[in-house]
Amino acid sequence: MAEVHVLDHPLIQHKLAILRDKNTGVKEFRALVGEIAGLMCYEATRNLPTEEIEVETPVAVAKCRTLAGKKQAIIPILRAGLGMVDTMLALMPSTKVGHIGLYRDPETHQPVEYYCKLPEDIDQRQIFVVDPMLATGGSAIAAIDFLKARGCKNIIMMNIIGCPEGVKAVQEAHPDVELYLAALDDHLNEHAYIIPGLGDAGDRIFGTK
Ligand code: PRP
Ligand code: URA
Repeated sequence: MAEVHVLDHPLIQHKLAILRDKNTGVKEFRALVGEIAGLMCYEATRNLPTEEIEVETPVAVAKCRTLAGKKQAIIPILRAGLGMVDTMLALMPSTKVGHIGLYRDPETHQPVEYYCKLPEDIDQRQIFVVDPMLATGGSAIAAIDFLKARGCKNIIMMNIIGCPEGVKAVQEAHPDVELYLAALDDHLNEHAYIIPGLGDAGDRIFGTK
């Protein structure tokens, strides 16, 4: 079973406290989602392979390390995953981005697909699927199903807030996928919302409610 990493870095936890607050407005919420994603990206990329190269500084030759092996792709689950992309791209500027559009049916809570556009060489890449919320796990599982159906093998899932139900569901469906969370919350309520959570991530990022 791949690892579940809950990131307890003080900066992440501080920003998460503001993010959860119902009084945090849309502008600050959106900025915080990006900032947390950037900090999470630093941890989630920790084990990417590197290779040694020599670089000529103005005074000598330095042995340095650069990223090696597979190129990366960031796959936001629409809509809310979009909020995590820009800061990750700022850290990994030549990374490609694919989009998977899913929404949860309000009655059944099952994910419904409405869009999928992925880089052509997606199966050759180290993939970071990003979405602020991991609730029932249905959206994450469906997104990973799409990617695996297209030959993808190296998949990391990044969620800002998860819950035990969602983690269990993803681990059962995709035991090879490593999970990075900023918080593992208590439980889901009867509407499949994470408790305590932060409410509806998409609505809070885009100001739709
Ligand atoms: C939210 C969230 C995840 C999903 C998580 O999206 O951004 O994609 O719910 O729930 P799950 O783990 O039970 O599948 P939502 O369906 O509200 O769509 P939106 O981003 O378009 O608002
Ligand atoms: N989607 C959200 O945006 N929030 C939740 O708590 C659950 C699913």
